[in-house]
Amino acid sequence: MRAMEYRGPYKVRLTERDKPRIEHPNDAIVRVQLAAICGSDLHLYHGMMPDTRVGTTFGHEFIGVVDEVGPSVQHLAPGDRVMVPFNVYCGSCYFCARGLYSNCHNVNPNATAVGGIYGYSHTCGGYHGGQAEYVRVPFADVGPSKIPDWLDDEDAVMLTDALATGYFGAQLGDIVEGDVVVVFGAGPVGLFAARTAWLLGAGRVIVIDQLDYRLEKARTFAHAETYNFAEYDDIVVEMKKATEYLGADVAIDAVGAEADGNFLQHVTSAKLKLQGGSPVALNWAIDSVRKGGTVSVVGAYGPMFSAVKFGDALNKGLTLRMNQAPAKRQWPRLLEHIQAGYFKPSDIVTHRIPLEHIAEGYHIFSAKLDGCIKPLIVVEE
Ligand SMILES: NC(=O)c1ccc[n+]([C@@H]2O[C@H](COP(=O)([O-])OP(=O)(O)OC[C@H]3O[C@@H](n4cnc5c(N)ncnc54)[C@H](O)[C@@H]3O)[C@@H](O)[C@H]2O)c1
Ligand SMILES: [Zn+2]
Ligand SMILES: [Zn+2]
Repeated sequence: MRAMEYRGPYKVRLTERDKPRIEHPNDAIVRVQLAAICGSDLHLYHGMMPDTRVGTTFGHEFIGVVDEVGPSVQHLAPGDRVMVPFNVYCGSCYFCARGLYSNCHNVNPNATAVGGIYGYSHTCGGYHGGQAEYVRVPFADVGPSKIPDWLDDEDAVMLTDALATGYFGAQLGDIVEGDVVVVFGAGPVGLFAARTAWLLGAGRVIVIDQLDYRLEKARTFAHAETYNFAEYDDIVVEMKKATEYLGADVAIDAVGAEADGNFLQHVTSAKLKLQGGSPVALNWAIDSVRKGGTVSVVGAYGPMFSAVKFGDALNKGLTLRMNQAPAKRQWPRLLEHIQAGYFKPSDIVTHRIPLEHIAEGYHIFSAKLDGCIKPLIVVEE
């Protein structure tokens, strides 16, 4: 089969390899139709994620058709169209029983924190991902769901991560009616967090980024007020001014460890590797929120120490909430919203790239070329 393969930082290519096989009775093999590249894949592509091995196939956002199932699989059959949440999880351990699917205890021998994620390095379990013609899906009765007939493929693939994660980010903000919500990052996750913050009762939604074309999308898709942080000496001061000098009620970090906006943080993280990432967006979130407010973090951070303003968070009495999203937990409510016509997730898709051009896709998305917001990988026409 054809699959995307990592060759080292900034190098991915298309390769031929054996089709995956059923390795456990509860596995399924899914023939991928549509996949996507996530902002998280860029951390891998940039060589930021520990133990990303050459030869790994990325891709944790994909939908397709069940090709084969193991003998114990009960809820899926060959021919079913399925969407697969980005988390690999068992569904029955202590953590899964509490809905913490992203913290499953049974799927990742290498970590006590994160569970399993498709195509996301050996730090996250060493599973191959779905930017390929076929993918092995463990615990096939647990993760995947059949795609409802009324749901478009491009909307379904948004549910596998970006939309579920954005919504989760808004949920972690504990928004109450009328709250001022500021979202850092106007990538897919930030756009969805901003859009769904309204559904949870936000009274004002502000989005911050430095890419004007993404801020434009934040205005049209998410109906947000926008600020380009590159145009201000200090974006935190602007946020204070915009909120009667109190600060926002809720701040959502949808940027993660590769944040721009502070040269020193950039040099000590990306260049010198003295810290696991640049916490600029997280620090801005901590500074922008009012005392007693909530900071929700869905931007990705590596396991290592970073120069986070933790003392300020403590002294302001903030609530910090965060996790990798347990994607499937968000599906029932999001499906209701989509079916009711409240929004169309695929409105943020900008690129549809055939699998054979995946290297080009990574380059365009990473370098933010050509107005790219969300690139899909078309595996099967
Ligand atoms: N927690 C989860 O389950 C989960 C799931 C998916 C993605 N993520 C993470 O969410 C983050 C966003 O994902 P995405 O797909 O939207 O990525 P993306 O790379 O498309 O978007 C990130 C955006 O942040 C902007 N940005 C950079 N520095 C900033 C700063 N200091 N302040 C404000 N904006 C800044 C960039 O210009 C870009 O538009 C990534 O870190 C990704 O790994 C987490
Ligand atoms: Zn992702
Ligand atoms: Zn589990």
